[in-house]
Amino acid sequence: MALQSLGPDRRHASATGKPIALGDPPSDVGPGLLERRLHAWYARWLRPLLPRDIDQQRLKLVYFGWGYWPLLKLATLPLWGRVTLLVQFLRVDWHVLHAHRPNEIASVCQALAARRAQPGEVMVEAGCWNGGSSAKFSLICKLGGYRLHIYDSFEGVEPLGSEEKRQGHDFSGAYAAPEAVLHDTLRRFGDPSVCTVHTGWFRTTLARHPVPDPVRLAFMDCDSAKGTEEVLSGVAPRLTADGVVFSQDYHIASVRQVLCDPRTWRRLGMREPTITRLGGHLASLRTASA
Ligand SMILES: C[S@@+](CC[C@H](N)C(=O)[O-])C[C@H]1O[C@@H](n2cnc3c(N)ncnc32)[C@H](O)[C@@H]1O
Repeated sequence: MALQSLGPDRRHASATGKPIALGDPPSDVGPGLLERRLHAWYARWLRPLLPRDIDQQRLKLVYFGWGYWPLLKLATLPLWGRVTLLVQFLRVDWHVLHAHRPNEIASVCQALAARRAQPGEVMVEAGCWNGGSSAKFSLICKLGGYRLHIYDSFEGVEPLGSEEKRQGHDFSGAYAAPEAVLHDTLRRFGDPSVCTVHTGWFRTTLARHPVPDPVRLAFMDCDSAKGTEEVLSGVAPRLTADGVVFSQDYHIASVRQVLCDPRTWRRLGMREPTITRLGGHLASLRTASA
């Protein structure tokens, strides 16, 4: 567990907010000096005092919680709605072990809340673990009139092939949580009424059965290039003109390679997207027409 994410340790890519040229995957960029120093100090003095992951996540809120700031500026929600949302998100952070940072969730929420849903439009989340991100997304979906489709194996990260393993980022089998945990999290902290859960490996769900509804936003968090491609094949054909895809795995070299390879988009029959690296591990992908 490290300071970089609220949940379990994942390598960090710094935020630039600058669009990235396709065909030229950027190399991973580590955290800045201040963050590295803070992390070293945290790992030496505080982490040993907090053996439970959830307690470490709670402590990190002091530093990362400010990342929710953009939620308070969501123009499409009344002030009271924004404050309520912030409190609900903090409750999730307090109670549910997850693998994201507040600023990452805030960026996704900002994009979704830019407008209300047209009839039938949905959000897709691919990779939910304990449902911490799903609960937050269900709340913002409810406010905006979207349904949330959640896809997961509930068996953890699919074991990587040898090629991906060679690239050095192997979370095979990590983040396994029973489906019942997701439902419990949604019931206690989110809004299950807007959620549909699809159980199975992405190769048998999204890759075989693309989402039937118009997809306004997709959030991919599966820690593998293969999984990312499978998710894309199921959501890309259904993206709305202003649809946006987020990858929470942009710190992983093999995932960056897939996303920055023009052949990926040719295979999907799509225009190449503009990729923008955001805070933490997050990048957004928007097609040229968006
Ligand atoms: C890093 S966790 C998701 C974390 C969650 N989004 C959060 O913020 O707490 C990755 C999830 O992806 C799922 N997963 C990984 N590869 C998958 C695949 N090929 N098919 C289905 N689910 C997969 C795992 O079961 C796990 O729940």
